[in-house]
Amino acid sequence: MVSGPNQNGFITHVVRKSKHSDARVKASPPNRQSPNPCPTSMADRSSTGGFDPSGIDEEAWTELERQLEATIPVYDKVNKIMTLGFDKGMRKHVRSHAKPGMKVLEVGCGPGSFAVDIVGMDLTCLDPSAEMLKVCKKRVDKVREERGESQASYVEAIAEEIPLPDNTFDRVFCLFSFRDFKDKKKGLEEIFRVLKPGGQLVICDAGKANWLHGLFGRLYMATFVQWVARIVTKDPNHPWKWLARTYTHYGTHSYYKGVMKEVGFQNVKARLLFPGMSSRFKANKPE
Ligand SMILES: C[S@@+](CC[C@H](N)C(=O)[O-])C[C@H]1O[C@@H](n2cnc3c(N)ncnc32)[C@H](O)[C@@H]1O
Repeated sequence: MVSGPNQNGFITHVVRKSKHSDARVKASPPNRQSPNPCPTSMADRSSTGGFDPSGIDEEAWTELERQLEATIPVYDKVNKIMTLGFDKGMRKHVRSHAKPGMKVLEVGCGPGSFAVDIVGMDLTCLDPSAEMLKVCKKRVDKVREERGESQASYVEAIAEEIPLPDNTFDRVFCLFSFRDFKDKKKGLEEIFRVLKPGGQLVICDAGKANWLHGLFGRLYMATFVQWVARIVTKDPNHPWKWLARTYTHYGTHSYYKGVMKEVGFQNVKARLLFPGMSSRFKANKPE
């Protein structure tokens, strides 16, 4: 399955125009929380621009990646302001689920905002964007060298097709990337496959505990987040205008808990992290 390093030294497999255009097969009716987390019948996402809680159509995802790459220069700054500085605590909370010596994978590492503080662990960073991986590698390699640690590995791939062997990792982390998966169930199945028996997945993403909480979240995304992004980027057409869509069509805690259980995860838990902007899911692969 591993396709070998490319000119950037990243292990590759994928990416932009992949087979995942058929992610639609698992789609539920547009922007509706289905009682069955993984409906078998196909629905049309065209009325929502290619999004629903189960995934994102290929064309919309390609544009999403373009918009995410455009955030790179100001990514950490905007995140810090729009979470009122709480992003630091959220990342710390997620990191506390791993211990030194563990083998850790971050799926959707972006520019390395979380990976950079993974200390004393064997780290693999995966992202479909070569641009993101380049920034992540530069940043993470530098701090790891300063700490006298071995270099991390970098994999250019999507969560839905992880070019790594079964039963490899003690922990898999997804910080603010699960919302962007093209096919959430397929991504979770791949994460399940690469986790060791007893290993744990921890996801942190924009919070949507339930429908009502989602309404407040949409208001926050449509107002405060947009003002912050507009002021920091000084660009009326900043990427967060577009990125807010992934939240609008994102599912609730119970929806994704259901999908995780279907995939085979145990001890599936979800909760909001203080002060309620983000959700943390955790789930174990059975021993
Ligand atoms: C908002 S950034 C998150 C960055 C970082 N994890 C953090 O802690 O802030 C989301 C990342 O998810 C990646 N991504 C998008 N779709 C993905 C997929 N299907 N599989 C894995 N990563 C994906 C994007 O390329 C992007 O770098």
